[in-house]
Amino acid sequence: MTQQRILTGITPSGTPHLGNYAGAIRPAVEVSQRADVESFYFLSDYHALIKTGDPERVQRSTLEIAATWLAAGLRPERAWFYRQSDIPEIPELTWLLTCVTGKGLLNRAHAYKAAVDKNVAEGGEPDAGVTMGLFMYPLLMAADILMFNAHKVPVGRDQIQHLEMARDIAASFNHRYGEYFVLPEAAVDEAVATLPGLDGRKMSKSYDNTIPLFARSAELKKLVFAIVTDSKAPGEPKETDGSALFQLFQAFAAPAETETMRARFREGIAWGDAKEALFDKLEAVIAPMRARYDELIAEPARIEQVLKSGADALRAKYATPFVARLREAVGLRRLDRLPAARAEASPKTRARAQFKQYREADGLFYFKLASGDGRPLLQSRGFASPREAGQAVGAIRDGADFAAWADLAENVARADVARELDALRAG
Ligand code: TRP
Repeated sequence: MTQQRILTGITPSGTPHLGNYAGAIRPAVEVSQRADVESFYFLSDYHALIKTGDPERVQRSTLEIAATWLAAGLRPERAWFYRQSDIPEIPELTWLLTCVTGKGLLNRAHAYKAAVDKNVAEGGEPDAGVTMGLFMYPLLMAADILMFNAHKVPVGRDQIQHLEMARDIAASFNHRYGEYFVLPEAAVDEAVATLPGLDGRKMSKSYDNTIPLFARSAELKKLVFAIVTDSKAPGEPKETDGSALFQLFQAFAAPAETETMRARFREGIAWGDAKEALFDKLEAVIAPMRARYDELIAEPARIEQVLKSGADALRAKYATPFVARLREAVGLRRLDRLPAARAEASPKTRARAQFKQYREADGLFYFKLASGDGRPLLQSRGFASPREAGQAVGAIRDGADFAAWADLAENVARADVARELDALRAG
């Protein structure tokens, strides 16, 4: 079974609130439990440097957000959980992508344009206060995603443009060097609740209306009792539609409990009693997580260890070999396998390997590479047209890694094929 790869980054800044939990953390943890999904969740600490210059804050936030995800039930053995800055291949890939990305593409990024528009409106220099970090943000994000060839990227609406850019950047690279990258798609889940905050508007740090996920019990109670309601008296029927209190209850209660609460609203539950019920519900769900969070925060070495071993395993399995292939693709290669040098060294008497193109009964077009004595070395995947098969052959002859289009034949060593290809390329 091929698993779908789902990846998302979490920028370590600020304190997670109930809205983050219901909208992002909880659904991500659920997805990570599916057998048909390979999920990647990482702390985008390189991104955090764009937003803050305060080192203590970056460190503290990284610790807190990592502890939050673990406390919320993310199991590192079910999902790749890591810290971006533990994967040095990511900034390396960023550079490779930078070199195939038009500056104009980044000029059009919403976040950058907004900064420029604001400067211009205020009569200042267009780029005043804009760091290259802000400008390059979409490239770093593209590298995060393309490094693991993620298929789906769950993000908020504000990130859709970044996903479009990642696709464009991947396509540019593929066009120049061969099919290395999957084109990722944004997954914006309309069904996922955006929770209302204390004042009934969307819960968001920028409205200052949030309920921190791990507020202490007394603080949580105080905040719940501060949720804005209408002025209906006890006994008067209450509307569930548009009630922040009801929506918050619904986001944390089982469907049957929600129906009971709906009935109590109709029957005119007193606001004080509804708040008490909401607090009890939240506390029941959150208290065990909060206890785990407290334990985790008290043991930062354990979290460090979880993140570090996640990154180490991920590098070994994907990042390091993939970047090695990409380096090869762009020409950052060993000098002792120079095609020209090879040709002189190779015995003239031995017959060269040859590419052969043909059509199979399935109607698709294929190529293979056969050694001088007719042994199969490479076997391609199927192409819709002879032209595409021919282009792949051309790209391989020009130096692209064959792995984008073809597999090694049985019992053939990669190094042997590399030697044959070098000889062919040398002409
Ligand atoms: N830019 C994202 C945000 O601010 C965080 C992020 C960084 C991300 N790299 C990513 C999200 C890669 C998805 C994929 O929310």
